Amino acid sequence: MKAGNLKKGAAITPAKGKLGILIAGIGGAVSTTFMAGVELVRRGLAEPVGSLTQLGTIRLGKRFEKRSPKISEFVPLAGLDDLVFGGWDIYEANCYEAALYARVLRRDHLDGVKDFLSSISPMKAVFDRRFVKNLDGAHVKEAPGLRGKLEEIKADIAEFKARNGVERCVMIWCGSTEVHLKPGEIHQSIEALRQAVDANDPTIPPSMLYALAALESGLPFINGAPNLTIDIPAMLELAEIVKAPITGKDFKTGQTLMKTILAPGLKSRLLGLEGWYSTNILGNRDGLVLDDAESFKTKEESKLSVLEYLLQPHLYPTLYKNYYHKVTINYYPPRGDNKEGWDCIDIFGWLGYPMQIKVDFQCRDSILAAPLILDLVLFMDLAQRAGMSGIQEWLSFYFKSPMVKEGLYPEHDLSIQSMKLKNTLRYLMGEEQITHFGLDYYMSEEEGGA
Ligand SMILES: NC(=O)c1ccc[n+]([C@@H]2O[C@H](COP(=O)([O-])OP(=O)(O)OC[C@H]3O[C@@H](n4cnc5c(N)ncnc54)[C@H](O)[C@@H]3O)[C@@H](O)[C@H]2O)c1
Repeated sequence: MKAGNLKKGAAITPAKGKLGILIAGIGGAVSTTFMAGVELVRRGLAEPVGSLTQLGTIRLGKRFEKRSPKISEFVPLAGLDDLVFGGWDIYEANCYEAALYARVLRRDHLDGVKDFLSSISPMKAVFDRRFVKNLDGAHVKEAPGLRGKLEEIKADIAEFKARNGVERCVMIWCGSTEVHLKPGEIHQSIEALRQAVDANDPTIPPSMLYALAALESGLPFINGAPNLTIDIPAMLELAEIVKAPITGKDFKTGQTLMKTILAPGLKSRLLGLEGWYSTNILGNRDGLVLDDAESFKTKEESKLSVLEYLLQPHLYPTLYKNYYHKVTINYYPPRGDNKEGWDCIDIFGWLGYPMQIKVDFQCRDSILAAPLILDLVLFMDLAQRAGMSGIQEWLSFYFKSPMVKEGLYPEHDLSIQSMKLKNTLRYLMGEEQITHFGLDYYMSEEEGGA
């Protein structure tokens, strides 16, 4: 069996040497929590809870074979000791100061890795306030025009690689959510996009310049925010030309994680939905950025689309045709990074009788997001070494708005996403996919059952 250019069990280039992780928005809550966490784990001071690559196992073969290795032992991933970090932010603070500001991790945790975090200082960012209205940092590039800024990011990448003796790098956008943008003419082909860069087109936000710089330098690119960024034909075209994997958008944490666990369950039991009201209070810098209506619109679109795809009202009009879905985020500083998400879910059962479910998720945004970054950078590096390019649909598991090929709808169901991810790993390593085909239960071991 062959999937596109990818052969089952084809040789994967070994993960030799260091892996550079380049982060746009390196001074943010999520980024600093991620880097501090990796270092705490490396020093044996904490456990990488929530990370599939570090703690997850994968069942291979039939159940009676009892083969369930750790994912990290099954696929050739880069080791934590080989990761080196760098990136850009609009604030000059080093990553220790930035982590203190973010108020996510306890002081004893942060002080345990103070030397490490203090040694990482952001490079000057490409920033344009038209796209993130509620922030204004001075640590920004002054190069003339978009082309000049793009070339500076590429020079930063080359310099980072040379300075750290790094062959392979992955770039990830953990920067703020940019204002809502619809793809236009200039986003349709790489040629048009490059011309638009030269013409300083006002519909090219900074995140697109980072993505262009990454792909033009041959790096995989991950988008952790709901921004358009790489979700345009021009970037897909470029990713195929340079043979780089891309993935996004918007880390699936908190409330949406709950939605993609609960909604598939309700649907599989054919319980109807009358309404789903979701609201959040959040007091970190992300909350401040999302307090601007245009940035919130980008987030809202990402959060709202989930139920529509999951419930498929066109297939189940009796159950899901007219449900009311509302999502709000309220900036509430006292809560900091410890977001609270409430869901009021009005469902109906047999003969239409109403019932209610209430969810109050007192979560921690960056604690939920950090392990996703770790998994994503390791898997994207693996994908590139395995010769995979373009959209990595198997990583939909990590996103609220998974990118998909034009004409397909995204898969949102967390358990299906997890199955897709693990089957991709099995395929890459030459193992049989596990389909949970129900009838093998009735077959003997000799017939290939169980
Ligand atoms: N934490 C979660 O659960 C979660 C879930 C999904 C998505 N996200 C997204 O991840 C991103 C990061 O979240 P966060 O909580 O760390 O936010 P944050 O505000 O703490 O961090 C964002 C950082 O990006 C920097 N930045 C903004 N524009 C930049 C630019 N052009 N270049 C370089 N740096 C830039 C900011 O200065 C800030 O330090 C946000 O877009 C957020 O919406 C977070």
